[in-house]
Order: sequence, then structure tokens, then C-alpha cells
Amino acid sequence: MAMRDAVRPIAREEILRQQAIAREIRERPDRPLTYHLITYGCQMNAHDSQALAGMLEEMGMAPEADREKAGLILFNTCCIRDNAERRAMGNIVFTRKIKRVRPELLVGVCGCMAQQEGFQERLSRRYPHVDFSFGPGEIYQLPQRLLDAMEGRREQAFRRGEDSTLYEGLPILRSSPFFAYQTVMYGCDNFCSYCVVPLVRGRERSRELKQIVSEAQRLVDEGVQEIMLLGQNVNSYGRDTGGPRFEDLLRALGQTGIRRLRFMTSHPKDLSDELIAEMARNPAVCPHLHLPAQSGSDRMLAAMNRRYTRDWYLERVRALRQAIPHIGLTSDLIVAFPGETEEDFEQTLSLARQVRFDSAFTFIYSPRSGTAAARLPGRIDPEVARERILRLIALQEDITREVLRGLVGQTASVLAEGLSKRDPGQLTGKTGRGIACNFSADPGRIGQIVPVLITGQGSKTLKARQIEKENP
Ligand code: 5AD
Ligand code: SF4
Repeated sequence: MAMRDAVRPIAREEILRQQAIAREIRERPDRPLTYHLITYGCQMNAHDSQALAGMLEEMGMAPEADREKAGLILFNTCCIRDNAERRAMGNIVFTRKIKRVRPELLVGVCGCMAQQEGFQERLSRRYPHVDFSFGPGEIYQLPQRLLDAMEGRREQAFRRGEDSTLYEGLPILRSSPFFAYQTVMYGCDNFCSYCVVPLVRGRERSRELKQIVSEAQRLVDEGVQEIMLLGQNVNSYGRDTGGPRFEDLLRALGQTGIRRLRFMTSHPKDLSDELIAEMARNPAVCPHLHLPAQSGSDRMLAAMNRRYTRDWYLERVRALRQAIPHIGLTSDLIVAFPGETEEDFEQTLSLARQVRFDSAFTFIYSPRSGTAAARLPGRIDPEVARERILRLIALQEDITREVLRGLVGQTASVLAEGLSKRDPGQLTGKTGRGIACNFSADPGRIGQIVPVLITGQGSKTLKARQIEKENP
């Protein structure tokens, strides 16, 4: 696949043009009145979906929870693993049935799958019931694509974008009044050998610090308590521009008055002492780090092109815990990478045991076309892969239970997000460490950071009750 290295922020005129089309659509009686937006994949995609929803609402459409009733069904897809793709494709194909009953239904497909070479052409050819498609760099073009689809200009509705353009200044429909995402950088330069992200999201491009900070200030002024900073590798923020680094950004954001800052994802090789020091010093930065290890075997780490060793990873963990003793660590782990032996896999188990992650996402390696690992020999038998992931999951579940048990009796602070779904007498939220917590407290505290005493645990959650004041 061709390299795309151009940084091309959307021109002001282009945004104005899209906004004019959005107004035009809003006035049309034949527009869809409702939308059903289905999002797969990571927080990046969740954030992109908030921008898509913001634009759809500007076009006068309301969300519809039942896809059978919606005027527009839009899929924001993920291509990181085969099962994510298969699930999306199954649902995309299914919309053909809905459209047979309601031919006026519009169906759109966007996100990372749409950015893969040849995908949009295949989609248009094989699935005539799909009306439009665009990649993650063309989110801002939603009004144009929708209009093309409504007016039957199929070729334009499926046009492939030439690069992953930045989008700035789009309306964002946040899912919570207290929580917001902010993208700090787009793309990824790391080329881990298994990963398709650099191929669909382009090279690293950092947003300007001033712009991120003023956007954060607006969010704080609107009552946002917690911001999650997003990027494929946030700790390489500023490497492409030669400007301020990620720790400088955290420092500047701390001055906006934001109560909580989280960020993901961090690459172990770029986790600097300066960043650890800022995390320890800055009271807004949550005591949590998602630090994907991927494997505990040096041989596999080298084959994955991760550019760190097991010892390097463990040393970074020690440095983090020394600076921030109560920090919670979470991870991503891949099993059955090509050539992984039983010994390699056991190294991953032993790493998990040694670090004691609060939790971990575990994946069976999935070959992605265009990546270096897809050409590697030594595919692992699917039965062996399954057996390994089950062993890893079982181990991590034990560790999670033990970690949670260790927290019982301690105090914590929880951002009260709302009433618990299971027990409306309780509030629910996350501790600074990022662990879900159900707790008894005055419902008037929703939207606030509440000090609690941890009184018990579930398998993945904590139970707690509100206390007067946190005892640090
Ligand atoms: N197969 C399995 N897991 C993958 N991930 C990324 N690419 C693949 C792949 N081809 C996992 C990594 C990454 C997380 C987001 O998804 O663990 O950190
Ligand atoms: Fe996110 Fe990666 Fe999936 Fe794209 S491919 S949606 S960046 S997880």
C-alpha cells in the first residue's frame, strides 16, 4: 500500500461548504429523519462516531435505537482483527433484508475497513443496497456523501479519499456531560508487524498544543470533569512537529482546571522518565496507565517489531510504581503470533503474573493483509491458539480478583456517572485507577467526584459507599 504522509488540515472553506450541504439536507423533506449508528473498535472510533452523530443531528436527524425503524443506518467499522471485520460485514449484509421492506432506508459504511485498499469498490459492486462509504480521514465529508447517495451519484458516494485528512472544528455530540474525548494525534509510525493501523490511519500527526488546550478549557467551562486524550501512541506526541512533548501537554492541560486526565494508548518504548515524573506530579492525571505489553517473550517482541525487551518493560513498570505507588496498570496481550512456542507463551503468562495487571485485553493473533507478519511462516494451530488464550484469560481473571481484593478497605474517588443499571439505588462510575465501581451515595452527586470507602468486590468491579472526605 502507498505511503500517505501528507498533513492536510481541512480548509475552512471546505468545512463551510459541508455545513451548507448539511443545512440543505436539513430542509429536504426526503431526508432520513432518524439514524442508527453502529460503532466497532477502539476509542478513536467511538470519538469519530461522536463527530458523525454531531453532524447527523445538524442535518436534522434524531437517534433511533431500533435499526429496523431507522431512516439511516451508518456503520463505523474497525479492521484491527478478522472477527471485528466479520461481525461488521454480517450486519452490513443483514441490512439488505431491512431495505427490501423499506426501500427508502439509506445504508452507509465508514471507518477503518473502508480505508483498506479496494474495499469501497468491492462493497459498491457486491452490495448494491449500500448507499455510500468513506474512510476515517473523510468524516467531515458526511453531508456531501449523504447528499450524493440521496441524489443517486453512486460513484461520488463511494469515492476513495486520497489521504487521511485531519478534522478539526466539527460539532461533537458527547455521550456524557461530564466526560469528553480529545484527539491529540492522528496515525501511527510504529509499524508493529501485526498491525494494520498505520495502513489505514496514516502517519503520525500531532495537533497543535494551543488548540488542544483551548478546546479543553471550553470543555471544563461546560462542566466536563474527565478528559480522555486519544492517539495511537500518545507518548510520541510532538515527535513529528519537534514542538512540545506529551508531558508538556499534560502540564498545560492541568492548568485548565480539569479534574481528571486519562490517555491512551502508550507505547512502552516511548515511556520517558519525564512523562512518568509529570504523571506523578500532576494531580489531574489519573493513577492509571494502559501499557500494552503484547508478549512476555523477547523472541516474539522482536518478531512483532515492538522495539523493547521484556526487561525494558519490567523496568518501566518499576519506574512507574516507584513514582506513583498506587498506579493501576492494564495491558493488551496477543497469543499465537506466528512462531510462538509453548515457552514463548509461558513467558507471557509469567509477565502477567509478575506485573499483576488490573486487567488485560487478550487477543488471538489475526493475520492482516498488507502487514509484515502476514507473510511470516509458523502459523499456530487454531486449537492451540484457543487453548492458550483461555489459559491466559483464566490467569488474568485470578490476578484481577486478587488486585481488587487488595483494594477493599481502602478509600478512592469515583466520578459518579449515573445510576447503576443493575441497582438503581446505587451510583456507578470509575475510580481514578479506572476500575468500575458501584456505590451507595446521594444521587445529587452524579457528575461529581465522590470520595468512597471500598467495601467489597465483584469479579471485575468494586463495591463502595460514599464517605465524608477521602483520607489520602
Ligand atoms: N491480531 C491480534 N491482535 C491485534 N492487535 C492489533 N493488531 C492485531 C492483530 N493483527 C491488538 C494489539 C493492540 C490492540 C489494540 O489490538 O494488542 O494493542
Ligand atoms: Fe481503531 Fe484500529 Fe479499529 Fe481503526 S483499526 S477502529 S484505529 S482499533
